[in-house]
Amino acid sequence: MQFADRLKNVETSAIRELFKLLGKPGIISFAGGFPDSAMFDVEGIREASNQALNEEPGAALQYGATEGYQPLREQLAAFMRSKGALDVAPENLIVTTGSQQALDLLGKTMISPGDKVIVEGPTFLATIQCFRLYGAQLISAPVDAHGVDTDKLEQLIAEHQPKMVYLIPTFGNPSGALMSLERRKRVLELAVKYQTLVVEDDPYGDLYFGEAPPPSMLALSSQVPGSREWLAHCGSLSKVLSPGLRVGWMVAPPALLANATMCKQFSDAHTSTFAQATAARYLKAGRMPATLAHVRQVYAERAQAMGNALRRELGDAIEFVQPQGGLFVWARLTGANGKISNGAEFAKRAIDKGVAFVPGVPFYAADPDASTLRLSFATADVARIEEGVTRLAQAL
Ligand SMILES: Cc1ncc(COP(=O)(O)O)c(C=O)c1O
Repeated sequence: MQFADRLKNVETSAIRELFKLLGKPGIISFAGGFPDSAMFDVEGIREASNQALNEEPGAALQYGATEGYQPLREQLAAFMRSKGALDVAPENLIVTTGSQQALDLLGKTMISPGDKVIVEGPTFLATIQCFRLYGAQLISAPVDAHGVDTDKLEQLIAEHQPKMVYLIPTFGNPSGALMSLERRKRVLELAVKYQTLVVEDDPYGDLYFGEAPPPSMLALSSQVPGSREWLAHCGSLSKVLSPGLRVGWMVAPPALLANATMCKQFSDAHTSTFAQATAARYLKAGRMPATLAHVRQVYAERAQAMGNALRRELGDAIEFVQPQGGLFVWARLTGANGKISNGAEFAKRAIDKGVAFVPGVPFYAADPDASTLRLSFATADVARIEEGVTRLAQAL
C-alpha cells in the first residue's frame, strides 16, 4: 500500500516500544505520563453523568456544536477566569477532544510543509510527532529550571521567523520546569514584537505542590498590549480529573479559532456530547477545588518521596531540580565515579532490575542530551516509589 508522504516525517515513538516491556510481572513503572486512576473522583463523575442523562438526555446523547457544548464552554471560561484570565468569555474558546486535539488543530491550521516551529528542548513527544506530521521543521530552544531561555528564544525567533512557538511554561512535560513571571512577560512581548503565534500548553498548571505558580501567559496577556492576538492557550481536564473524558479546550484569537473549528468539523465533528455534558455538570457542582486540593497533596507527597529517595540512593550519580508541581522528575546522569551516563542504557538495565522510566532522548526535536531521563512519580504510592528507586540504584 502506498501511504501518504507525510508519514515519512514520523516514526513510532521509542516510548511506545518501551511500554511493550512494561507488561513484565512485578515491574514498578515510573514511565507513564498518566495521572493515578485511584484518584479519580468516581462518585462526582457518576453524579454528574447521571445528572446529564436525567436533565438533558437529548443534548447529552445527540450530535452537538463543533465549538463545544455551550454550558461546558461557560464553565470552562469561568474556570479560566477563576485562575486570573479575567476576560475569557465562552466564545473565546472551543472544546477539544483532549488538549492533544488542540495541538493537532494548531498543526492543521498553521503548519505548511517546511514551516519552522520553535519548541522547547526537551518538549512533549506527541507535539513533536504531530507537528512533524504536518511537515514542520522543528527548532529546539534550551530550557533551564525557570523555563525556556528567553534570550536564546529571541535570537531563534529573529533568525528563523517561525510560524509558531510552542511552550509548556508550567511544570513542563518532561522538564518539570516552571517558567518565571519575567520570562512569561518577555515571551508575550516577543510574540508582539515578532508577530509570532505563541502556544501555551497548560495541562499541569493546577498541579502545584506549594505556592501557586505565576499566572499563565493567558492571564498575563492583559498586561502586554497586543499579545492576546498572538497567543493560543490549551487546557485539559485530563491530569486533574480524568483523561478518559477527553475534554480539553483552546482559547485563541477569533480567526484561528474559526479555522480550527472548521478543521475539527472534518475531524470528529465535535467532542463527545456525553463527556461534555458530564464535565459541565461536574464543574458546575463546584467539586473541582476539593479534587484539586486532593491531587495536589498526593502528588506533592510522591514528588517529595521520589526526590528524597533519589538523593539518598543515587547520590551524585544523578542531578535534578526538585519539581514544584506536575507529574515528573527530569534528571541527568552525571557519570560520576564511572557510573552509567547514558539514559537509554540505564533504562534497559533498570527494566532488568524491575523498574521502568523513559530515557530523555525522544523528547528532543534536535540535539538530544543522551544523559537525561524522565521519571513519573504519579502512579506509584510512596512505598513503591522507594522500592523503585532502590532498584534504580542497583541498575547504576
Ligand atoms: C504537555 C502535554 N500537552 C498535552 C497533553 C495531552 O493531554 P490530553 O489530550 O489528555 O488533554 C499531554 C498529555 O500527556 C501533555 O503532557
